[in-house]
Amino acid sequence: MGNQEVLAQKIASYFEAFELNARSGDRDFFLRVTEGIDSLQTLYFNLYGDHPDRANQFDQLLATVFQAYQQRADTLKDRDLEKLAQGNWFLSNKLAGMSLYVDRFCGKLSEMESKLPYLEDLGINFLHLMPLFESPEGESDGGYAVSDFRKVSKRFGSLEDLAKLMHTLHLKEMNVMLDIVLNHTSDRHEWAKKAKSGDKHYQDYFYMYDNRWIPNQFEESMPEIFPESSPGNFTWSEECQKWVMTVFHSYQWDLNYRNPQVLREMLDTLFFYANLGVDLLRIDAPAFIWKQTGTSCQNLPQAHTILQLIKQAVHMASPGMALLGEAIVAPADIMAYFGRGEQQGKECDFAYNATQMALQWDMLASGETKVMLQAQPILDQKPFGCSWIAYTRCHDDIGLGYDDYMIAQAGKDPYLHRRFLKEYFTGKTLGSPAKGALFSSNPKTGDARISGTLASLCGLEKALDENDPGQLELSIQKILMMQAHSFFLGGLPMIFYGDEIGYTNDYSYRSDPAKNYDNRWMHRPLFDWGKAAKIHEFGSIEAQIYAGTQRLLSIRKKLAAVGDYKNISWMGPHNIHIAGYLRSLGPQRIFVVFNFSSQFQSMTWYAFKEHGLIPHQLWDHWNEEIIPVGLDHEYFHLAPYEFRILEVMPKD
Ligand code: GLC
Repeated sequence: MGNQEVLAQKIASYFEAFELNARSGDRDFFLRVTEGIDSLQTLYFNLYGDHPDRANQFDQLLATVFQAYQQRADTLKDRDLEKLAQGNWFLSNKLAGMSLYVDRFCGKLSEMESKLPYLEDLGINFLHLMPLFESPEGESDGGYAVSDFRKVSKRFGSLEDLAKLMHTLHLKEMNVMLDIVLNHTSDRHEWAKKAKSGDKHYQDYFYMYDNRWIPNQFEESMPEIFPESSPGNFTWSEECQKWVMTVFHSYQWDLNYRNPQVLREMLDTLFFYANLGVDLLRIDAPAFIWKQTGTSCQNLPQAHTILQLIKQAVHMASPGMALLGEAIVAPADIMAYFGRGEQQGKECDFAYNATQMALQWDMLASGETKVMLQAQPILDQKPFGCSWIAYTRCHDDIGLGYDDYMIAQAGKDPYLHRRFLKEYFTGKTLGSPAKGALFSSNPKTGDARISGTLASLCGLEKALDENDPGQLELSIQKILMMQAHSFFLGGLPMIFYGDEIGYTNDYSYRSDPAKNYDNRWMHRPLFDWGKAAKIHEFGSIEAQIYAGTQRLLSIRKKLAAVGDYKNISWMGPHNIHIAGYLRSLGPQRIFVVFNFSSQFQSMTWYAFKEHGLIPHQLWDHWNEEIIPVGLDHEYFHLAPYEFRILEVMPKD
């Protein structure tokens, strides 16, 4: 019997065992499984082909997929079919997201419903609820050190509260994004506890060694993620007298995916989230999930195979749930998370556009677009059907992770340029209005990332400290320009809560021992609803930023061409201070242009005539005015940090 027949028989026997009906009720599932099983098996054997128990382990994995489908609520199955019928539903210009910590935003999950009008009014219809599952109070890494993947932490409420909220959100046609932390568990997770007590079965769930022999080999090529607060990649466990791999904090134990049971257990967890109704699952730190001595232990081919396998399994059992790979790595490496070669478009549906995010900050500091433009040939390679999370800030630091050659090609010295950026954002450069801090400085490599809120990095905090109305106005202009740049670029905009009303840095984390080793807490505000109420006070800072953000989102929702359909072209560098892109779909053409410098800038109208069209007049959606297009040698002007959203209008 050939492999195809064996697989067909296997499918038939699973349908029987799970009491599913391949001819009627479960026909769509049957078709998806039949179509995907070969590839699922190939991916699985690529990973575990040498494992003595591979066949049995694969059967268990398949059973996990069937069980997930069987347990999926009918309402979610209907939602799956609706989304499949829409095609890549998540590329739409109508979506707008926000990331927030439930406890810091409103206390409990049960309070969220009463806060939804605020979010809806802003235009948000996609909510990323930051990690909610149980994690030890003092050692939680903001919830990314999970001690129970299925129990909502008491801090937020209960699983029922979460299910209720998700139901309400779906009724309001809002989508939900949750995290799965695949790479590690808290050292207080049941598996880790059992491993500590000497249970061999669970010791195999982690990377554990009796002596430094192998850890030392790993360390030779592994970079450090948190060199200041958690140097090295291994931690000594007194309890079991072993070295444990801990790439992030010492209390986050890396899971060992060489053990197929780890993959099956985590896939089961992933389906637990899928069946709660998650629309977009954020896979935390996927770059790290496979380890190999002699490598950086990031972006390894097996990590991609695991993600492709997950995608295939999800496509079978819960196809309405899209996947976001949180890979904050070099530009070319990020692109690999969309799948390469035969697997193109079959890995993650989304990745963070971390490169463009960091380059926006680069442009803001340098006032120039040259480095940013060097990155575009790579970013343009994103396959059709996949998308970006487009953002200016998130809960993490800003890493300046784009390549040195991009900086060099822009005519700058990479070392000096990065030093300039670090000094600019920490306010050390003369004239810099930014108030940020360096995160995870590594004296050995000179690397550092940047913490600070959008508003503080744009100068609002300093303007308030110095009571400087001119700088204050400019900082608000910069905040809106940064948001506009990411909202219109293509991808799902993800606002970080608080940025919509200009939160400046919160320094209270310094006196909290559970947070003071991690300055990312300075940009994770404790939301003050009194401050939020100021959006109704005409002219207040909050009202200006909120109304501007709201208007940007509403413009975005009107313009289909802003959806992410591989439909972006960059305008040439006619003026290195002006970034501009053209978004087109069918007959709709929109130029979005930004002056990243502190001076008035101009470029000739010819810049608008290079893309196979000669526009005669433009409608500026931001300023709501018609702008006649000038002659080639005449000039188009932008004030400092001004931006425009210009739709090409018909000739008459
Ligand atoms: C991701 C999270 C970050 C966390 C890390 C370890 O990068 O975004 O906040 O510290 O993973 O889980």
